[in-house]
Amino acid sequence: MAERRPFDRLWLGAHLATMAEAGPGLGVIQDGAIGAINGRIAFVGPETALPHGASAHETMRLDGRWVTPGLIDCHTHIVYAGNRAAEWEMRLGGANYEDIARAGGGILSSVQAVRAASEEALRAQALARVDRLLAEGVTTIEAKSGYGLDLDNERKLLRVARSLGAARAVRLVTTFLGAHALPPEACGDRDAFIDEICTTMLPAIAAAGLADAVDGFCEGIAFSPGQIGRVFDAAHGLGLPVKLHADQLTNGSGAALAARHGALSADHLEYTDEAGAAAMGAAGTVAVLLPGAFYMLRERQAPPVAAFRRHGVGMAVSTDCNPGTAPLVSLLLAMNMAATLFGLTVDEVLRGVTREAARALGLLDSVGSLEVGRACDLAIWSVQHPVEIFHTLGHNPLFARVFAGNVTD
Ligand code: NIG
Ligand code: FE
Repeated sequence: MAERRPFDRLWLGAHLATMAEAGPGLGVIQDGAIGAINGRIAFVGPETALPHGASAHETMRLDGRWVTPGLIDCHTHIVYAGNRAAEWEMRLGGANYEDIARAGGGILSSVQAVRAASEEALRAQALARVDRLLAEGVTTIEAKSGYGLDLDNERKLLRVARSLGAARAVRLVTTFLGAHALPPEACGDRDAFIDEICTTMLPAIAAAGLADAVDGFCEGIAFSPGQIGRVFDAAHGLGLPVKLHADQLTNGSGAALAARHGALSADHLEYTDEAGAAAMGAAGTVAVLLPGAFYMLRERQAPPVAAFRRHGVGMAVSTDCNPGTAPLVSLLLAMNMAATLFGLTVDEVLRGVTREAARALGLLDSVGSLEVGRACDLAIWSVQHPVEIFHTLGHNPLFARVFAGNVTD
C-alpha cells in the first residue's frame, strides 16, 4: 500500500464553523480536525474520520476551542495619512458630512495629507492598523486607493497596499478607487476627470498590475451613475472586476447600477430600495454592510436587510477602515455593530466576514470556508460558542491565527 503523506500540521479537538455550504448556517463540525499540506487544507472533518494512521510533522490539540476560516475585511481604505478627528468634532457640534465635503474637507483633506506623505510614512501608519486587524484573526484584507486622485499618488497608495501583504502574513487585495472625489486641480469638471481616469489612470494602473478591482463613489457629492458607468466599462475593458460605494447618503440607484454592471459587490446601501435589492439578488452582487460608517455618521436609516434576505442577496460585513467615516480598526466591533445596529443574525455576521466576504472579493474558490483545497487560513477562538467571538465589546477571544498553514502568533 502506498505510504500516506504526513500533514505539515494537524489541529485536533476543535469545533469547526466551516461555512462550507451555500445555504444558511455555519456548517458546524463538532470534535473536528484540520490537516494542512503546502499551505492548503488537505483534510477537514470529524476527528473520527481522519484516515487511519494519519500523521503530521506538528500536531496541535485545541481542547474544544472553535475554529473559523481566517476573517476577511473586504472593504477598507486602510492606507492613509493623518486623521480627521477635528471633522468628527465638528460633526458632533452639528456640521454634516456632506457640507464638510462640499467645503473642501472630508475626502479632500485626506488627499492633501496623502499627497504630502512619503511612501514609507504611509506604510508605517497603515501597518499599525493592519496589525490591529491581524490580532483579531483577519487573514485577508482589501485596501482601496482613492486619497491620491492623480496617477502618481494613486499608484503610491496601491504600491503601499501591495507592500503590506509582503510585510505581514496576510492576503492583501487592492482596489483602484480613482472615482472617489473630484480633486481641486480638476476645477469642477467631473466629466473631464472621469475621462482622465478611463483613458490614463486606469490603463496605467492595470498595466502595472497594481489593482485587483475597480471601485467608485456614486453619490451627489461624488459621481453620477453615468460617470460611474463609464469607469466600469473601462475597467471591464481591461479585465478588472468592479464594485461600488452605493446609496450611502441618498438613494442614487447605485445598487441597481452595480448589479447592471455585474459588480462583485455594492457597499454601504443604507438608502437602497426594494428594486435595488432585487437587482443585486438577480446579479449575484454581494451587499457589503459597513456599520462603522453608519455609526460614526450617526445615520438613522439602516440598510434594507429584510429586502436583501427576500432577494437572496449575500451580505458581507467590513470595517470600511478610513480616516473620515469609519476610523475603525476592529472587525470584531464591526461584527457586533452589524448585529446590534443592522439586525443581522449571528450566523449572518459570521458568514459575512468569511464566506460572503470572500465572494465579495471574487475569492470564494480560495478562501472564506474550511474545505479541502482552500487556503489553510484559520482563526482559532477561545470560546464555547461562536456568538462569543463578537459578543463582548473590547474583548478579543482570538487564541491563534493561521495563515497559509503557518501559525503566526
Ligand atoms: O466608505 N463614501 C466614501 N468613501 C468612504 C469615506 C471616505 C472618507 O470620508 O474619507 C466611505 O465611507
Ligand atoms: Fe468605503
